[in-house]
Parts: sequence; structure tokens; C-alpha cells
Amino acid sequence: MRIVVLVSGTGSNLQAVIDAVTAGALDVEIAAVGADRPGTFGVERSAAAGIPTFVVDFKAYPDRAAWNAALTETVAAYAPDVVVSSGFMRIVSAGFIDAFGGKYLNTHPALLPSFPGAHGVRDALAYGVKVTGCTVHWADAGVDTGPIIAQEAVAIEDGETEESLHERIKVVERRLLVSTLASLAAAHNGRK
Ligand code: GRF
Repeated sequence: MRIVVLVSGTGSNLQAVIDAVTAGALDVEIAAVGADRPGTFGVERSAAAGIPTFVVDFKAYPDRAAWNAALTETVAAYAPDVVVSSGFMRIVSAGFIDAFGGKYLNTHPALLPSFPGAHGVRDALAYGVKVTGCTVHWADAGVDTGPIIAQEAVAIEDGETEESLHERIKVVERRLLVSTLASLAAAHNGRK
């Protein structure tokens, strides 16, 4: 199963995928890693691991439609079976998702449909919920919407900060992303 991973930041979830592949524990081929802006550590660490990388800089295009078209063309060149949004902080168009047969996987640091958006951890903390967590789902063109594949809960502790909570969620999120990809790869390889 070929995947293209999209990142906007540090890419620690991506690193968990790279590590699992390197360890022989995850039967996927990371065809490429791409970002929506230059200078991300996610792209840097992928290049260091010998993975092809690309940047389709959102700010370099006149509008969202032009950026979406460029992103679609760039990702399609790697012929992925699944595209993974792993801390990719841009909403893609329905056309992008259709181009990959709807196989656009997203990971989110909250228990969807609660707390979608860019600040899922902060919003859960501010609301005062006692349990939050993470979600891996097939993404549609909405904000963190689409069929849920896997979720895991994380209890919120007293005195928690957004940073400490996000770090604890990400420990679970990395594991959930890798195990979800492993299940999808097993199903994909079984079909071949
Ligand atoms: C993850 O929690 C992801 O769900 C969220 O941003 C974080 C990205 O972390 N959207 P990293 O770049 O994988 O370290």
C-alpha cells in the first residue's frame, strides 16, 4: 500500500509511521511526504530518512482553488493508495479527495465529532471535559468530518496544560495511526 503523508509541522506522528516501516512492523511504502509551507521539520526528517519530499506552498498560489489543483497534481504523481493528513493544517477540496478515491485519512487530537478544528486540545480543556482523546477517520471536505475508523480516550488530569495534554494525546495518536495503517495495509494487500 503506497501512502503520501501531508504535514504542516514537526511530524512526530509521521515519525512513528517511518519508525514502524523501518522496523518492519508496518507494510506500507511511504511514496512521499509533502507540506503546505517551506521549512517544516516533518519534511526535513523525511528527507533525512531518504523519503521523497515536496512542498506545495499555500502562499505561492493566487487562491485556494489553484493551490488545491497543484496539490492534487503533485500528490497524484506518486500514485498513492491512501493519502494521510498527519498534522496537515489545511482543508483540501472535494476534488482532491475524489482524485484519491476518497482515501484521505486524517488524525485529530480529540474525540470527534467533539472539538473539531485547529484547536481540538485547547477547546476540550476549555470546555472542561474529563475525557478527550484522538480520532483517525476518513476525511471529507469538511473540518475534521467523515467516517470514523478508530478512536481512543485520554483522561484529563488535574492541572493539565494544553501542551501537556497534547503531548499525552499524541503518544496515543501515534500508536492509533500506525495500527490503523497496518489494518488498512493488511486489507489492501489481501485484495491484491
Ligand atoms: C497532531 O496532534 C495532529 O492530530 C494535529 O496536530 C498534531 C501534529 O503533530 N492536527 P505532529 O506534527 O505529528 O507532531
